[in-house]
Amino acid sequence: MCIEFLLVTDLDHTLVGDPKATAVLNHRLQSNRTKVCLVYATGRSYASGCELKHTEGLLEPDYWVTAVGSEIYVQNIRDQAWAEHLSVNWQRADIAALAQTFTELEVQTAAEQNPWKISYWLAPDAPRNVIDKLRHKLAERNLAAQVIFSGDRDVDILPLNSNKGNAVKYLQTRLQVPAMSTLVCGDSGNDVSMFQQSARGVIVGNAMPELLDWYRNHGQPHHYLAQVNCAAGIMEAIDYFGFLALTENV
Ligand code: GLC
Ligand code: MG
Repeated sequence: MCIEFLLVTDLDHTLVGDPKATAVLNHRLQSNRTKVCLVYATGRSYASGCELKHTEGLLEPDYWVTAVGSEIYVQNIRDQAWAEHLSVNWQRADIAALAQTFTELEVQTAAEQNPWKISYWLAPDAPRNVIDKLRHKLAERNLAAQVIFSGDRDVDILPLNSNKGNAVKYLQTRLQVPAMSTLVCGDSGNDVSMFQQSARGVIVGNAMPELLDWYRNHGQPHHYLAQVNCAAGIMEAIDYFGFLALTENV
């Protein structure tokens, strides 16, 4: 299959959030289904992502990047090569033990944890520098990990090789899709790593302050800040970059 367009989209508050716009985008993608490789890149677990797909009537994607890039699924099967890649130098038990000493962090539900992801909520009244303190402590103990802060509340600890952006790079290489044929779409902190890859990107109009801050400081000409929200913002970017245009105008 020759992929003309690799569309990688976050779900909550990006593809999902404005049902009418999601339906219009679904229809547009469905009409071009053979030309598009569709990837859902979400912070949710695979089970929770599948449930959302069902309740929101989303299209079946070609790939799932779930749990902030800590897992990749295709047709219900977890990518084993990715799992092995993430396991290198990942000391999960020691990292979790260290994180648990931070009283400002409350562990998320068991369903949100997996062998390559440890997730917490930051207490609402906690100072934001707790995140940097955690990073510092991890480095001090030589525990290789990355800490991702999203939505002013969620704290994910992942292997260094992980995150949504590294998963996108892995898929681009595997599918041999050029950077400029890729569009990544997101709204929050756990999407930043996707914008750090060689790819076009859209920050939807309703993006969270942490992603807007990143865009202001690091945004590139191949990144587009949409005027409108959620799936309507994705469509704005599809038109801005000229994806699907040739196909639809024939
Ligand atoms: C999703 C996940 C949660 C994670 C958050 C931010 O809400 O369920 O575990 O912390 O995304 O990445
Ligand atoms: Mg989101």
